[in-house]
Amino acid sequence: MGIILDVTDLHIEFHDHDEPETVVEDFDLMLEEGEIVGIVGESGSGKSMSALAIAGLLNRHALKKTGRIMFNGDDLLTCDRATLRSYQGDEISMIFQEPMTSLNPVKRIGWQVEESLFIHHPDIDKKERKKRAIEMLKAVGLNDAENIYYMHPHELSGGMRQRVMIAAAMIGNPKILIADEPTTALDVTVQAQIVELLKKINKERGTSIIFISHDLSLVSQLCERVIVMQKGNIVESGKTSRVFSNPTNTYTKKLIAAIPKIDIGE
Ligand SMILES: Nc1ncnc2c1ncn2[C@@H]1O[C@H](COP(=O)(O)OP(=O)(O)OP(=O)(O)O)[C@@H](O)[C@H]1O
Ligand SMILES: [Mg+2]
Repeated sequence: MGIILDVTDLHIEFHDHDEPETVVEDFDLMLEEGEIVGIVGESGSGKSMSALAIAGLLNRHALKKTGRIMFNGDDLLTCDRATLRSYQGDEISMIFQEPMTSLNPVKRIGWQVEESLFIHHPDIDKKERKKRAIEMLKAVGLNDAENIYYMHPHELSGGMRQRVMIAAAMIGNPKILIADEPTTALDVTVQAQIVELLKKINKERGTSIIFISHDLSLVSQLCERVIVMQKGNIVESGKTSRVFSNPTNTYTKKLIAAIPKIDIGE
């Protein structure tokens, strides 16, 4: 299997104040084709910043990024805007914690699922777009796809909305799906269903997944490999079963000790 993404020495700092603030330091990630990697760590440890940089969504003015994010022979930190845009939402897509804020409340579900096809594949006509959107909605477990296609976000439950987000992220058949706390706003049963759905997508389509979560149990169920972050740095990484059963880093030990019982799903 090949390497699909190679991040080296990623460094992110904010320049909002007099003193620059480093939020990610020396971040490295070599993602294999079809691999699922978890990122865990306390709030503010730099998980989202790293993920947003990889997704090409960190484009603020008062911000400095250095290092390399190699994808398909391009460095996403230095390539031109057109190249970056051609990957965003098509080859590399991202889903977030709260689907209600990521979905547009006034647009129909069908429109939102099709949007990236519309942007990236203008050659695909309206009829074919709709066909693919309905297939995708079914593939994420929304069986009533023909009706859901015409609904608005408020007509769906939180779990259904997260499935819609996943459908929208997956319609271009991305090589990499980045999921930043995709289950945090959902109840436990629905969380498990979303994790199963991500597993299914990974198995059937070979999509590589970066899964960010505070829930170490979900991470151990889904991810073969895990990265532990603290204060912008990777403090430990390795096979999930090893890291969670036999952590070498003091911070990882604390993180695990804070969980009442963790199920190392093998
Ligand atoms: N606009 C900003 N200016 C300066 N610092 C910021 C800004 N936005 C975020 N940060 C800082 O970046 C650091 C990393 O934040 P990040 O969102 O990546 O954390 P996280 O690991 O995703 O946390 P959480 O688990 O709460 O989502 C934090 O210390 C945060 O305060
Ligand atoms: Mg975050």
